[in-house]
Amino acid sequence: MFYIGIDVGTSAVKLLLMNEDGRIERIVSKEYPIYYPKPGWSEQNPEDWYTQTIAGLKELISGIDKKEVAGIGFGGQMHGLVVLDENDNVIRPTILWNDSRTADETVYLNKVIGEERLSEYTGNIAFAGFTAPKILWMRKHEPDNYKRISKIMLPKDYIVYRLTGVHASDPSDASGTLFYDVKNKCWSEEMMKICGLKEEQLPAVYQSYDVVGTIKEDICTELGFIKDVKVVAGAGDNAAAAVGTGTVGEGSCNVSLGTSGTIFIPSSEFKADRNSALHFFAHAAGNYHLMGVVLSAASCNKWWMEDILMTSDFAREQESISNLGKNRVYFLPYLMGERSPHNDPDARGAFIGLTMETTRKDMTLAMMEGVAFAIRDSYEVAKSLGINIEKTKMCGGGAKSHLWRRILSNVLNLKVEIPEVEEGPAMGGAMLAAVGCGEYESVEDIAQKIVRVKETVEPDPEIALLYNERYEIFRRIYPCMKDLFKAMRT
Ligand code: XUL
Repeated sequence: MFYIGIDVGTSAVKLLLMNEDGRIERIVSKEYPIYYPKPGWSEQNPEDWYTQTIAGLKELISGIDKKEVAGIGFGGQMHGLVVLDENDNVIRPTILWNDSRTADETVYLNKVIGEERLSEYTGNIAFAGFTAPKILWMRKHEPDNYKRISKIMLPKDYIVYRLTGVHASDPSDASGTLFYDVKNKCWSEEMMKICGLKEEQLPAVYQSYDVVGTIKEDICTELGFIKDVKVVAGAGDNAAAAVGTGTVGEGSCNVSLGTSGTIFIPSSEFKADRNSALHFFAHAAGNYHLMGVVLSAASCNKWWMEDILMTSDFAREQESISNLGKNRVYFLPYLMGERSPHNDPDARGAFIGLTMETTRKDMTLAMMEGVAFAIRDSYEVAKSLGINIEKTKMCGGGAKSHLWRRILSNVLNLKVEIPEVEEGPAMGGAMLAAVGCGEYESVEDIAQKIVRVKETVEPDPEIALLYNERYEIFRRIYPCMKDLFKAMRT
């Protein structure tokens, strides 16, 4: 049998075809645009996700025996606000997870409603990218659109709806809305009231591996599927990536360097961070997780290489860099503001420590180190909560870089394991589909049976020590700049 994983990402939809033993038959990626209509805003058209998903599916399954396709599962960029009218038509472009227009609504939620109440209702405080502040923004700035909302969906859930006709979500993605009570795993009455929503405007929440429906007949015909293809609810991209890298049990960890960078630590019990610097969300495996999010990670690399250095040969720029731990240049990666731990939509990127000797290579290295230091900021919070881990998996586009693997391992002083399949969220989606179709007993079962590590990077004690000293400087830079960033707000 075949299982398909679809990751509705920020830069592209990635599709993966896996057989029942976990062997990857094919991977396809289809890009779509992001629109930045104003500084700090970022939007996408759900129709682009759908068109590219269908185009990707056609390519993915061409030439295979289509009756062997048993199920499809999803991962997807989180927090995006997809709003549908009473005919299920999209009302406005989706406001994405890295959009910071909701700074005022976030302050309102955290200060007026209050962090304590938000934590009690949802297990989390408000961050600008979350869905609830976006609804408040729409209510204030687009009242006519707001009044037309019949359904609120998350990005992957919209594609599930288009393929099956079912309005569904899952606990991991629902957690990022701030309408969801993570502890009790249900929509929060209080948060719905604060945002002026009724429960029928929200999708039904299924377990990530639950079958929510089958592919609609007309789409089956278009794609050439012969029998009912089951669709499972799937998970937010980070929870799906955790499944895809086998990060399911206590003591495990996954760092993903995609458009965003995340550190994901599963937890068997509900224990939200009292200081609220990290997110506490439901995991796709049924338990919970703690997560720190760096808004710009591999996207810093793309920006630096393509827009500034004007090259597409990323590997060449990195190949002769060797002075790990000795760079004198620092980089703040806050190109879209920052989520964890600063929760500051006004934060901006910066190079610091430039001299007449600074080279292009120093700046490239500083950019990569800055992302790793920002991940360490969240890791330090996790450690302060008593979390103890010895190694981490690593996935996402950034994990393809040998240099970034070494930097991360030394900055975190952790063993870094690279799974055979680096497309974490799409792999996780396919694995959830295999569980939902009964091929495996549980998420833990499939993770244990099919996820394999292809390379392990050990930290070098000397380099890790140097990075420790440099991190102590890095962590002092943002507090010095914070007020300046506010003053620079446009
Ligand atoms: C997680 C988050 C990002 C997006 C990126 O909270 O905002 O990782 O899910 O796709």
